[in-house]
Amino acid sequence: MSQPFLLGHVGSAGHVQRFVHQLPTAVLVANQAGSIVEVNEQLLRVTGYAREHLLRHPVQVILPYNGSLKQLYEEILEKETESDSPFEVTWRDMHGVERTTAVMMQVQQAEETMYYLIYLFQLGQERNAGLAERIVAKLTHDTSVGLFVLDADATIVEASHSACKLLGADRLNILNKHVDEVFAGIPEQHRLIKKEWLDGVKLHNVPIFWSNDSQRYELIVDANSIQDESGKTVGAFVLFKDITNLRSFEQKIERNERLAMIGQIAAGTAHEIRNPLTSIKGFLQMFLQSFSESGMDREKTYTEIMLTEINRINSLVSEFLLLSKPRDVQYSIVDLNVVFEEILPIVESQAILYGIDVKFLSRGNLPLVVGDNELLKQVFINICKNGIEAMGEQGTLQISHHIDQDGDKMSIDIHDTGPGIPLYIIDKIFDPFFTTKEEGTGLGLSVCQKIIHDLGGQIRVSSKGYGTTFHILLPYL
Ligand SMILES: Nc1ncnc2c1ncn2[C@@H]1O[C@H](COP(=O)(O)OP(=O)(O)O)[C@@H](O)[C@H]1O
Ligand SMILES: [Mg+2]
Repeated sequence: MSQPFLLGHVGSAGHVQRFVHQLPTAVLVANQAGSIVEVNEQLLRVTGYAREHLLRHPVQVILPYNGSLKQLYEEILEKETESDSPFEVTWRDMHGVERTTAVMMQVQQAEETMYYLIYLFQLGQERNAGLAERIVAKLTHDTSVGLFVLDADATIVEASHSACKLLGADRLNILNKHVDEVFAGIPEQHRLIKKEWLDGVKLHNVPIFWSNDSQRYELIVDANSIQDESGKTVGAFVLFKDITNLRSFEQKIERNERLAMIGQIAAGTAHEIRNPLTSIKGFLQMFLQSFSESGMDREKTYTEIMLTEINRINSLVSEFLLLSKPRDVQYSIVDLNVVFEEILPIVESQAILYGIDVKFLSRGNLPLVVGDNELLKQVFINICKNGIEAMGEQGTLQISHHIDQDGDKMSIDIHDTGPGIPLYIIDKIFDPFFTTKEEGTGLGLSVCQKIIHDLGGQIRVSSKGYGTTFHILLPYL
């Protein structure tokens, strides 16, 4: 250590800064004018300063040396050539307490500017770190556990990397800062770190939500105060685990169970509904005949309405049955061009009613797929119908296709210029009975999804504020 070790040429000021953050020793970087331009985490830890206490302040804040940095540098060089023992300086910590420690200085040029790198060695301390301190170091750097430690004044003296990520903040900018400063503008009850823990408020396995600017987290939290041997509170800590992923997994299982149950109920009741309907329908048709023969026009109209309504119940029940136990899929090679030639007239006739344009861009270009003719028709009609219903009075329904990036699937893309699907319902649209329409059944998309899954495909939705595209992905030949 008697020789200052030399770095290679460091290209830019940014490089110098990154370099000092990787060092295990406390380092501060100052410019020629003697003002501090960078400090690393170790320095903050050893000295108790927050980064802002030091940046752009004179080096004298921490090194009360009566002279310029150049003089200090030359003095160190001179002493090092004279003796083998390291040069020592006096430094001052956050609380004004002065200590001496071995120091090393280095001059570095970056982008035409000279910088002084000043290394403060805390050899004694580092070597004697006990197991407990090493565990804390591990916890803070190398695990997914979130940890914050407060001192008695509610200054954050320790923060693990995972914890900082959750705050959406850089560790360097949190260490040794007061919680009021870190959470400035956030009311006490919404803060991730609370001062009340210092007063003895304890948390044990408490689930909480926390959102930073970009993400929402679910956490399981433990917090408690820490006492010294006389029982005086000297600080507090909070430990937490991010369980966001676990939760969404749980919700998925719950949802699948719910769907399976709906399926069972549907299968059990659908047939029971359909059989009596068949006989009611039969008798109504007889009535219709007699009413029209005997010129009972009013009765005839009522009967017609009843028949229409029965047909509605019938198609609802069919969707129900399909959802619970689709009829055996008839696999065959299907030419999607033929499928669309057959369904376009149906889609167009509905579109015309609403003054909507239908653009079919893939005429004659669609590949062959393995699937079930009738079921595929049902899927495309359903999704086109949703698009038309979403647009209301005018708009364009566009049907095109593309080959998926992975190359093994083709996608039919059905795009509408409707209002789009709000983010908060997009997860639910495939749930049976989920509908936002007064006359809706909420079965259309759940049936589509079941059919496409059974065919080895997948349905994706993209909706960005305006307009919606359903991508129906299918393996193709
Ligand atoms: N193209 C679309 N644009 C906007 N919302 C849509 C679109 N397609 C489906 N949705 C939403 O999804 C819900 C469920 O659709 P679906 O399962 O077909 O049932 P239904 O059409 O009977 O409501 C609709 O009520 C609607 O809120
Ligand atoms: Mg629908």
